[in-house]
Amino acid sequence: MTSGTAALCLGPGPSGFMVRQFTRRTPAADEIEVAVAAASVNPIDVRRSEGYGRRLLSLIGAGKFPLILGNDFAGIVTGVGSGVSTFKAGDRVYGVKPASSEGTHTSHVLVKANHVLAVPEGLDLHPLATIPYSFTTMWLAVRGAGLIRDNAPGKSILVHGAAGGLGTLATQMLSAWGARVTAIARMSNSKACLEAGATEVVERTDKLFSSLGRTFDVTLNFATWEDDLALLGCLRDGALGHATTVHPMLGNFDRLGWLRGTLKTILQKKHHRRALPKGANNFTWVLFKPDKAALAELRQFVEHNHVNLPIGLFKQFSGVSEAFDHVRKRQPGRALLLP
Ligand SMILES: NC(=O)c1ccc[n+]([C@@H]2O[C@H](COP(=O)([O-])OP(=O)(O)OC[C@H]3O[C@@H](n4cnc5c(N)ncnc54)[C@H](OP(=O)(O)O)[C@@H]3O)[C@@H](O)[C@H]2O)c1
Repeated sequence: MTSGTAALCLGPGPSGFMVRQFTRRTPAADEIEVAVAAASVNPIDVRRSEGYGRRLLSLIGAGKFPLILGNDFAGIVTGVGSGVSTFKAGDRVYGVKPASSEGTHTSHVLVKANHVLAVPEGLDLHPLATIPYSFTTMWLAVRGAGLIRDNAPGKSILVHGAAGGLGTLATQMLSAWGARVTAIARMSNSKACLEAGATEVVERTDKLFSSLGRTFDVTLNFATWEDDLALLGCLRDGALGHATTVHPMLGNFDRLGWLRGTLKTILQKKHHRRALPKGANNFTWVLFKPDKAALAELRQFVEHNHVNLPIGLFKQFSGVSEAFDHVRKRQPGRALLLP
């Protein structure tokens, strides 16, 4: 069997990363092998490289160093499992992979064929590597807050962290669905939020949330847990709901262990759920996982060129630490690794 190369994360602290060769495996019946052209570094990769989420992720074999991080990719199919009829060697594809110890920061990745989409003719591979993981997580939040394409027109949505990856994709998708998006972002990101489709942009200040009033149908928190209750306070009676991707669940298990972590998580979740206004029922703490309906929606948006994220940095595996630093320091644009 031929070999591949991976950016191996050795653990928190100075140990950092090393580039290592590995022996490629044959795809299982429902898998394909993809030669990765680009894979993104997302905030979760940075946090996992620092040990975040280890306890919960250990349940799926993704908590122990060394790890190959990364959840999304774009590339060329190099092998298909015996049960796969949707792809063949040479196809251009992009897709997602659940958290694992064999992520996408590698030259060759094995993925489930049903977590992969074909790249439409004429589109470049690299930009597509920035989107699948963030789009799927964003879509899970939107659906978890009770919004779907059919009920979105005219709805008023408050997006916190609107200039980030999830926020930008949410703004692009929801405005295309006919919703009105109020974006919370720094004023220096105002233009980008308006270009993504926001109706208005407001800056986070101490008085922001009380000044917005209880007027929104949906609130989405992609920014900080600290503001979660304040966001819930912006929902009107009869609203659809709220979702957050920045909840403390994984951190609770890391810090407090299984028992106290579970108790703390249940209490925090109950406390925040109680802040939903009358008539609102949807309340979700998102945990990323590949999702068939999210991928179907992503396919449509990509085909119509309606989603994209700015890229701030391209690095080969030898520059993997710089790519992680770029994301850690919240510098503008996504970071892409090119094997
Ligand atoms: N639960 C899950 O499964 C899951 C999956 C994916 C992502 N996430 C999390 O969801 C969040 C959003 O992801 P992303 O990829 O969109 O991250 P991102 O690109 O770094 O964007 C985060 C946005 O939130 C803003 N922000 C961060 N901290 C803030 C604070 N304390 N106050 C106000 N604004 C703040 C940032 O503003 P500035 O740029 O102005 O600092 C930025 O616009 C991240 O925390 C990520 O780890 C969770």
